Amino acid sequence: DAKQIPKDFLHIDDFDKDTIMKILNRAIEVKAMIKSGDRSFQPFKGKSMAMIFAKPSMRTRVSFETGFFLLGGHAIYLGPDDIQMGKREETRDVARVLSGYNDIIMARVFAHQDILDLAKYAAVPVINGLTDYNHPCQIMADALTMLEHIGRIENTKVVYVGDGNNIVHSWLRLAALFPLHFVCACPKGFEPDAKTVEIARSAGSKIEITDDPMEAVKGADVVYTDVWASMGQKEEAEYRKKVFQGFTVDEAMMEMAGPNAFLMHCLPAERGIEVTDGAIEAPNSIVFPQAENRMHAQNAIMLHVLGA
Ligand code: CP
Ligand code: NVA
Repeated sequence: DAKQIPKDFLHIDDFDKDTIMKILNRAIEVKAMIKSGDRSFQPFKGKSMAMIFAKPSMRTRVSFETGFFLLGGHAIYLGPDDIQMGKREETRDVARVLSGYNDIIMARVFAHQDILDLAKYAAVPVINGLTDYNHPCQIMADALTMLEHIGRIENTKVVYVGDGNNIVHSWLRLAALFPLHFVCACPKGFEPDAKTVEIARSAGSKIEITDDPMEAVKGADVVYTDVWASMGQKEEAEYRKKVFQGFTVDEAMMEMAGPNAFLMHCLPAERGIEVTDGAIEAPNSIVFPQAENRMHAQNAIMLHVLGA
């Protein structure tokens, strides 16, 4: 039977490939309009969005708030000390109360179960703004950036160097829809979730897990990295710096990748740790267009879930 059309945006592969392509094409269209200075498109006029943040953020907060505003809506920022979801109040209560005031909820949380609970009890669409498990809005922005810079998503070689974290899980779930050659080069013990790897493999993508980043990056279209210690793991940062020796994306690694390789990073970056200053400032680094695309990808996601 037909897959139920989700009201929420929680994982890339909750949608089919055509829907994801439609959202990305919409992002390109609305981006052009916004960049031209045209502000006549106001589909979110009279609408409000609650944004729950259990963790810090620059890109997610500013891009959602600005994007929703540019398209006519009003966004409310709720920081870690405001509603204290799950502590001051149960998640299922937060979901129903906010649904009474708002047309849409965006949330950044620790446990993935929290976003699932929020979506289950909310009457309005819930967008995943990062959990400990995944970060689908980031990978939508990354896919948009690949369309702009490489011209395609399918059959590209993407080599992720670093911790097998939430970003990797979202790449794998993109690879469940688009045939990709995705390599995760990480130290032993820091591999991505095995079930998620299997989802991508059984869909037909070529997925490799290795601890040899120099070998892995050869011929890559994209070399991608992220912090070694994610939010919630910062007390492990010093230990991880030792274990991740050899996994810094530097000029030599980009040289090994070859002349066609773009450098991507979801940011924030710890320069000198997982990526060198020289690599991130090089002409083939597209980290800032990538960051800008967060807003455009998310605008299209919001248009999709609001049926606008
Ligand atoms: N890439 C990203 O999600 O950045 P923030 O943590 O600043 O939102
Ligand atoms: N893996 C990082 C991504 C930050 C956008 C984290 O979860 O902290």
